[in-house]
Amino acid sequence: MNNVIKLESVEMEFKDSIAIIQQQATQTNVGVLRRQAILSELNLKKSQTVIDIGCGGGHLLKEISLAIGEKGKVIGIDGSEFQINSAKELCANLSNVHLVCCNANNIKIEKQTCDAVTSTQTLEYIENVDDVLREAKRLQKPNSKFVNISTLWDFFGFHGPDPEINKVMHDAMKGQKHPMLPIQLSGKLKKLGYKNIKTQEINFFIRNKNDNSFPKFHEILMINAARSKGVSEEIISKWQNQLNKAEKEGDFAFTAYSILTSAYKN
Ligand SMILES: C[S@@+](CC[C@H](N)C(=O)[O-])C[C@H]1O[C@@H](n2cnc3c(N)ncnc32)[C@H](O)[C@@H]1O
Repeated sequence: MNNVIKLESVEMEFKDSIAIIQQQATQTNVGVLRRQAILSELNLKKSQTVIDIGCGGGHLLKEISLAIGEKGKVIGIDGSEFQINSAKELCANLSNVHLVCCNANNIKIEKQTCDAVTSTQTLEYIENVDDVLREAKRLQKPNSKFVNISTLWDFFGFHGPDPEINKVMHDAMKGQKHPMLPIQLSGKLKKLGYKNIKTQEINFFIRNKNDNSFPKFHEILMINAARSKGVSEEIISKWQNQLNKAEKEGDFAFTAYSILTSAYKN
């Protein structure tokens, strides 16, 4: 593993406790199912070169690394030094994993080097997403695949608490620059000349929030976000009590609606 370089700026910081909880969420069944969908769509071959934009703690890198074998190369890029260091640790024994800390709109890798470019729940956080898509296209070999998963954030979240309080909590977590990106992504790819653009739904409807569940980690993230935006402790604990009560009484659900978009570069 090599190439950990310093970052200038990213729009939303994934570091410390936020990054740790994000990495825990990615290890739940939701993260596993998303990675399976990506791997199945990528249909990787030995010796290929693949890039994961916004690789986070490196969980997908590890699986790609094993799929492409030691003659292949998987490059994880992320704007957060914390995430890059976590990925470095996770992939410590995998010689074909390379990590670069940089902004996704300026990746210092030669053009047309990748057999596939992938990204999971990252593009929606990036203001200049069109620049990142152009960068992805630049890195791709002709006829290679682009595979992205982004969430439809308007449909993401908890159901059960009083709608008004629930909205305050959900609003606190709205940091995405393009919360409904999957709706625009196919058109953006078409404009860039991609072909065979397809979408696939990956939906979750979860009725409980056990300690190690995707909803549990998002409950923690939502409370952190609410605190940082100045929502009162009274509102936060009211919301949490209502969530717990709804779960006990069977009136609780957590929904996440993600879209896998795939396309081939011309
Ligand atoms: C929600 S996390 C997803 C991480 C990983 N793909 C996963 O599924 O577990 C989004 C990641 O995108 C990274 N990110 C956000 N904006 C970025 C940018 N402009 N350039 C590079 N990385 C960025 C963050 O640091 C974070 O690690």
